[in-house]
Amino acid sequence: MKIAIISGSHRNNSQSEKVSRVIEKMLSDKEHCSDTWIYNLADNPLPLWEESIWDKEPVWETRLNPIREQLQSCDGLVIVSPEWHGQVPAGLKNFFLMVSRFDVGHKPAMIVTVSSTDGGSYPVAELRMSSYKNNRICYIPEQVIVRNVESVLNEDPADNNESTDAYFRQRISWTLDVLLAYAGALRPVRASGVALSDKFGNGM
Ligand SMILES: Cc1cc2nc3c(=O)[nH]c(=O)nc-3n(C[C@H](O)[C@H](O)[C@H](O)COP(=O)(O)O)c2cc1C
Repeated sequence: MKIAIISGSHRNNSQSEKVSRVIEKMLSDKEHCSDTWIYNLADNPLPLWEESIWDKEPVWETRLNPIREQLQSCDGLVIVSPEWHGQVPAGLKNFFLMVSRFDVGHKPAMIVTVSSTDGGSYPVAELRMSSYKNNRICYIPEQVIVRNVESVLNEDPADNNESTDAYFRQRISWTLDVLLAYAGALRPVRASGVALSDKFGNGM
């Protein structure tokens, strides 16, 4: 199983990227995960959505095709989002405008949100409400909210709160196991072809 990890912060050396790297390492140690791909939105690699994407303008095809190829080869995703002013960062919402049902449709996705304090709930709600309708990404019921992120999941144990760090490592690892189980279970749904309807190309 191949899992894509989308790091949704625009900042360089963000906490979201730190968490994404920990998740990538955990996945690569798991028997049921054969490959991973991290896409980092630091420095905004994707310009804002333009209508020429629908016209398949070459500059956009060149930009998006490598991303589409990676996503199409994945069986599931982890979406890592910081909470910024109670929202998902604009670059991550922009990413979802460019991702189609042919890339992520009917693939399970695990939401991981990140907060330097005790936030992190709002981006969970926002992703579940408004990022899946047309691309048909399937958020699994489990999610992880990494609160006080600076005190956990650091490489140097001296930087971590020992008990909360252990809790988050166990919780993330278990949730990844759930994600991988869904990834196996949803493969036949996509293979059946029933979910790819030309008549109902967009969700209601
Ligand atoms: C523009 C901006 C707005 C933020 N707003 C919130 C917020 O509403 N709630 C919160 O818990 N943290 C907020 N934070 C702090 C983030 O939780 C913190 O930066 C954390 O490290 C996750 O973001 P990162 O992945 O960009 O590092 C904000 C950070 C930025 C840069």
